[in-house]
Amino acid sequence: MNTTKNTIIFALSLIVFTNCKAQNTTIMNKNITIDQKVDSLLALMTIEEKVGQMNQYNGFWDVTGPAPEGGSAEQKYEHLRKGLVGSMLSVRGVKEVRAVQKIAVEETRLGIPLIIGFDVIHGYKTLSPIPLAEAASWDLEAIKTSASVAAAEASASGINWTFAPMVDIGRDPRWGRVMEGAGEDPFLGSKIAVARVQGFQGDDLAAPNTIAACAKHFAAYGFAEAGKEYNTVDIGTSTLHNIVLPPFKAAVDTGVRTLMNSFNELNGVPVTGSSYLQRDILKGKWNFKGFVLSDWASIFEMISWGHAKDKREAAKIAATAGSDMDMEGNVYVQELAQLVKDGVVEEAIIDDAVKRILRVKFELGLFEDPFRYCDEEREKETIGNPAHHEAVLDMAKKSIVLLKNENQLLPLKKEGQKIALMGDLADDKSSPLGSWRIASDDETGVSVLEGMQAYKGNTLTYVRGAEVATEQTTFLKEVPLNTTDTSGFAEAVRVAKTVDVVVMVLGEYGFQSGEGRSRTDLQLPGVQQELLEAVYKANPNIVLVLNNGRPLAITWADENIPSIVEAWQLGTQTGNAVAQVLYGDYNPSGKLPMTFPRNVGQVPIYYNYKNTGRPIDKDDNVFWSHYSDVENTPLYPFGHGLSYTNFSYSDLEINGNTFALEDDVNVSVNVTNTGTIDGKEVVQLYIRDLVGSITRPVKELKGFELVEIKAGETKTINFTLNKETLGFYNNNGDFIIEPGDFKVFVGGSSITALETDFVLE
Ligand code: NOJ
Repeated sequence: MNTTKNTIIFALSLIVFTNCKAQNTTIMNKNITIDQKVDSLLALMTIEEKVGQMNQYNGFWDVTGPAPEGGSAEQKYEHLRKGLVGSMLSVRGVKEVRAVQKIAVEETRLGIPLIIGFDVIHGYKTLSPIPLAEAASWDLEAIKTSASVAAAEASASGINWTFAPMVDIGRDPRWGRVMEGAGEDPFLGSKIAVARVQGFQGDDLAAPNTIAACAKHFAAYGFAEAGKEYNTVDIGTSTLHNIVLPPFKAAVDTGVRTLMNSFNELNGVPVTGSSYLQRDILKGKWNFKGFVLSDWASIFEMISWGHAKDKREAAKIAATAGSDMDMEGNVYVQELAQLVKDGVVEEAIIDDAVKRILRVKFELGLFEDPFRYCDEEREKETIGNPAHHEAVLDMAKKSIVLLKNENQLLPLKKEGQKIALMGDLADDKSSPLGSWRIASDDETGVSVLEGMQAYKGNTLTYVRGAEVATEQTTFLKEVPLNTTDTSGFAEAVRVAKTVDVVVMVLGEYGFQSGEGRSRTDLQLPGVQQELLEAVYKANPNIVLVLNNGRPLAITWADENIPSIVEAWQLGTQTGNAVAQVLYGDYNPSGKLPMTFPRNVGQVPIYYNYKNTGRPIDKDDNVFWSHYSDVENTPLYPFGHGLSYTNFSYSDLEINGNTFALEDDVNVSVNVTNTGTIDGKEVVQLYIRDLVGSITRPVKELKGFELVEIKAGETKTINFTLNKETLGFYNNNGDFIIEPGDFKVFVGGSSITALETDFVLE
């Protein structure tokens, strides 16, 4: 290194160092780039301090994983003081964050501020619908707004980094974490990933009301075998590149600052130790400049996987593979510095990780003011303010999916009706909050009962009927789903006979889905199905409202119950949103982001499957791809959702028949609201690439538009297909586009109304 360069770096180091400790504004000198500041700070750090930046500890209150090996509170405080901690998670509230930040800034040698992470999954205290529900809105603006509300509340509470969005594609509803993602489709999932990252991060990461986002879990966690949590993942390259990775790439392309890897192995290698994923693809091909966080102790867990023999080896593998920060694993902080001193791990690997972490801290403005997220006044004003309640109510209404509506049972008449409201979940104020709500307080959701009570024109009688389970599950503990108590049935049946309509709220408690909540049975838990059938015998005029965090197999209900509303877990404003939809003050427009199976044996079931060599029963014998005991179709397909009005599709047109590979293909379609009330429709465009060097799915979503159409009105909707949407990844992970015949389908679900075709030459 030449002397001039050395002098500059030394001078910069002094500027950063002095200001870092003193926290004045010189460090924000516009003439020094963030990379220069990072380099100069790095030059001052010992190897222990560098490794400290790569260490993340959980706070002292909320726990979101198994107890770590070591890592007592005393040790955490001691390490904080020594500058051996770069980040903390699950420390929340201005008071608590300020306390740990003060230690980092005032007591450590270099005074480098902590980055404070938290699982802000669907809101902070004022909760939005669970992410799967939000995805059902297909409303990217609303989803972005919802994330920005979450960011506003979290940042007012001292947090500057969320572990969201989860962009794992989920095809298996047995896996409890499908509630946390955007469903089964990589195209919709990518759009939602972008919207959520933009919502959290805003235009300016240093603004006090924005936070860094974290796309997780990199990668393929959603493909856990048999939907069993934390299980092995073994998928082919085509699924990896075409289904799993696109939402991560979309998040990276939109500037997500961090990624979290996952607990699973992928084809024999725990992803935390996968150089292929983290170095070759993420930091190589995609040129990702942010940092990668491990999942909770996932570096340590490579020992249980049988991929590392001890902590030392786990640290070596993970750091070399590109895992930059160790979440609550106590592995890096114990092993990495020595590994570098022993010449086993190159210091350049550590430097690269630390630079990535420091860069994000600079971008968040933490060096300028480590307490910029610690303003008690703002905390008081921001959390739970009325505008946030309005926003989550809006999001909640948009997330509701009308699955079935016969006999005009919905919307409910507002006057002169006798209505019975039934089900344990109907007066539950906690379950609507769903899983991942650790900053909110129990019992703070508006129950469906409360929402319905706001409509005074009818007589409303509430009857519980049956519990969902013997006790409520909690975030940490599950309870057996073995209730047999049917003692409330008689009263439910008696009341059902006296009313015009029965609204039954059935489904899952809020913590029956989420992390660690895999299920092998997708029917209504407990005795709820029996209750439904008993009440149906007494009065078939039933509106079934589902509260759940995953697709359920409700085949009997679909065959018998006239109206079914998928209301998921809609967050703080659940009851108001449900009541407004049931009474027709809001016309539902949600569409399913995940296929609903007829029974659990069909799982994984998804719309973009491969044709197989034997797709149909050509010769009326058994030799075709099917099950013998159930129809070959889903109960409700991906993209399905009704409205209180009807839409018809016509005039599907393409601007030509043959196109060059580089051309845009313009598609238009007319959509008419044929009913008598205004409504919104998600117009969906799918393609099929008929012949490919890698076989292509029977349908792939490649465009959608949420449009408002007035009663009687027709709108023309335009889509453009291009090489980005017509191409795919080959088995080397290269994006290619091939000439050939394509079909185009357009409609209001993946069972589309219209079809046409074109040729790429
Ligand atoms: C484990 C989960 O898999 C991850 O999504 C979460 O962010 C961390 N725990 C921290 O709570």
